[in-house]
Amino acid sequence: MDDLERLAAEIDRDATVVALTGAGISAPSGVPTFRGDDGVWDRFDEGQFTYGRFQRDPDGFWADRIELQQAMFGDDYEPNAAHDALAAMSREGYLDAILTQNTDGLHEDAADTVGDSDDDATILELHGNARRVRCVDCGKRRDGDPIFERAAEGERPPTCDCGGIYKPDVVLFGEQLPGAAIQRARSLAQESDVFLAIGSSLVVEPAASLPRQAASSGATVGVVNLESTPVDDVADVIQREDVTETVPRLRELLS
Ligand code: APR
Repeated sequence: MDDLERLAAEIDRDATVVALTGAGISAPSGVPTFRGDDGVWDRFDEGQFTYGRFQRDPDGFWADRIELQQAMFGDDYEPNAAHDALAAMSREGYLDAILTQNTDGLHEDAADTVGDSDDDATILELHGNARRVRCVDCGKRRDGDPIFERAAEGERPPTCDCGGIYKPDVVLFGEQLPGAAIQRARSLAQESDVFLAIGSSLVVEPAASLPRQAASSGATVGVVNLESTPVDDVADVIQREDVTETVPRLRELLS
């Protein structure tokens, strides 16, 4: 039995299985990762996208954010085999939750393609969704495309009907994650029997602590990542492989 077969043997419909994903699961779809070769933070300065900058200089923030979104999400990108395999595992009752740090919306797209069922995994977008914007005053969320267009044409910061300004509906550096989301993520890690960390460098909190929390609660931890991570020491299974190889193979071992 190889490592992946050992991991698959722990996953059945009665087990609570949670997957934490990062930029590496979307890399094969053409969405750039943040760290590593040609990462987003090699091309852009993180400091330009802090919550403090948004508050201090909303015009400049929006001008830079337009460039960042273009670089990250400019081309049409689709879920890849890894997203689809997680959606299939969810559909088949093998996956209870997907906690994603990604803001690209690809897990939702894959779930839509695979089709809904009542035992679908919860998808928790820990860092929000870059396809939406949110008014900082009235809290109204709406599709981001028309607002980004208005900002690109000079309305910076773009404003809501209520007079408030829009912010991309993502968690910015220096901004608190919604408390409910962190609590939910932590209890899912605590309750999990199997915790999969897929395509993340696991250096940004609170996500980075979840695999260790799961391990300390007795979960079997599997890490799928091309590079080493700070939680490799608590992983029962480590797959230094491309997500589009390993995740579909894991799903096939279950059915
Ligand atoms: N298959 C497997 N692993 C991959 C693949 C692939 N095809 N491509 C990249 N990886 C791995 C890289 O080796 C890297 O360790 O995915 C990881 C991506 O790490 P990061 O770029 O740091 O992305 P992530 O962990 O999601 O970053 C967390 O940081 O900047 C913030 O808010 C941002 O959500 C992001 C958070």
